[in-house]
Amino acid sequence: MFNIFRRFGRKHFLGVDFGTSSIKVAELSIRNQKPCLENYSWACFNVVSSDQKADEITRDELMKISLEKIIKKMKPVSGSAYISVPAYTGLITIFELPYMEKNELEQAIKFEAHKYIPASEEEVIASWDIIKSEADNSPAGSGKRVKILLVAAMKEEISRYEKIMKAVKINVRAAELETFSIVRSLIGDDAGTYLIIDIGFRACNVILVEKGVIKISRNIDTGGNDITKSVAESFNVSWEKAEDMKKQQKDLINSKESGVVIYSLELIIDEIRRILESRKSENSSSGKIDGIIISGGSANMKGLAGYISNTLGIRAVIGNPWKKIVFDEKLKSKIEKLGPSFSVAVGLALRGIEEQKSK
Ligand SMILES: Nc1ncnc2c1ncn2[C@@H]1O[C@H](COP(=O)(O)OP(=O)(O)OP(=O)(O)O)[C@@H](O)[C@H]1O
Ligand SMILES: [Mg+2]
Repeated sequence: MFNIFRRFGRKHFLGVDFGTSSIKVAELSIRNQKPCLENYSWACFNVVSSDQKADEITRDELMKISLEKIIKKMKPVSGSAYISVPAYTGLITIFELPYMEKNELEQAIKFEAHKYIPASEEEVIASWDIIKSEADNSPAGSGKRVKILLVAAMKEEISRYEKIMKAVKINVRAAELETFSIVRSLIGDDAGTYLIIDIGFRACNVILVEKGVIKISRNIDTGGNDITKSVAESFNVSWEKAEDMKKQQKDLINSKESGVVIYSLELIIDEIRRILESRKSENSSSGKIDGIIISGGSANMKGLAGYISNTLGIRAVIGNPWKKIVFDEKLKSKIEKLGPSFSVAVGLALRGIEEQKSK
């Protein structure tokens, strides 16, 4: 039967980023072969300062209500979406194995993967890729080693978000760890070596990318909420007041008189130093880092990029997921500010475009 959708292909692509404190949604289309921003929206949940974690069921309910509002407002053209799973609920790691024949290798990977995944086989969805290496053309037993990129996500976590999508009557085309979405929107096919620091509400994801391939992905259990708490403690103000102060134009990080010590930033910097040191000791041929890209809502904090640049001696910039997207000029100032918060949602929608193009 003649299939109109097949002939013309999908033209709209929806990305839904389920964050700890908010949901961000972006819809892109392809026009004249270029990705265009059709629509975007976001909603914050009512997260409060208290240390006691909101009951997960309540949180899912909040997410559902927020997403319903967004969808009602956006009226997306697309009936299906790409969704993200938080980086800290999954795992991305690289390990090495001796070079061997393909079917043997598959067995060896399965065996090795168990050492890295702290859950049973039934609880996770795992996949792996062989990273291209010099061993590609070597015979088995030649002493060469292959590098395997292992990715795992909790089934339970994915099904939580699938349920929420079902409630808003949008199909899920694919789910991925947000790390991949961020890399797609902020780096794409750039051949350089970059460190991405994504600082959200709850967590921080540090990602090392070489020639578009993820080489390291570390999750640090600290984020924007901890920054707010540090500000609240330093100034002896409420969480809400500290949240406001943090978003103002005053540089609380670098100004001596503010006297704020932000432990989260120290933890993040320490982890990055460890990554840089281990690269040095591995004597990585392409050891140089071309730049640091900051992403997530906290990237907008005044003075953060300067602080990271000065502390690590590598230029840090705020990530811009819109750089390859065509959009209405009138939106420029609005979406530029939102940029680092939308790197996941845009990266998800871009996956749709990539899949469509490769058909
Ligand atoms: N202008 C700003 N200055 C400083 N911090 C900001 C600013 N705007 C937002 N934030 C902070 O960004 C954080 C939210 O970031 P984001 O929306 O990326 O998190 P999330 O995706 O909900 O959480 P996570 O990624 O941890 O699951 C909050 O802590 C918020 O206070
Ligand atoms: Mg996030």
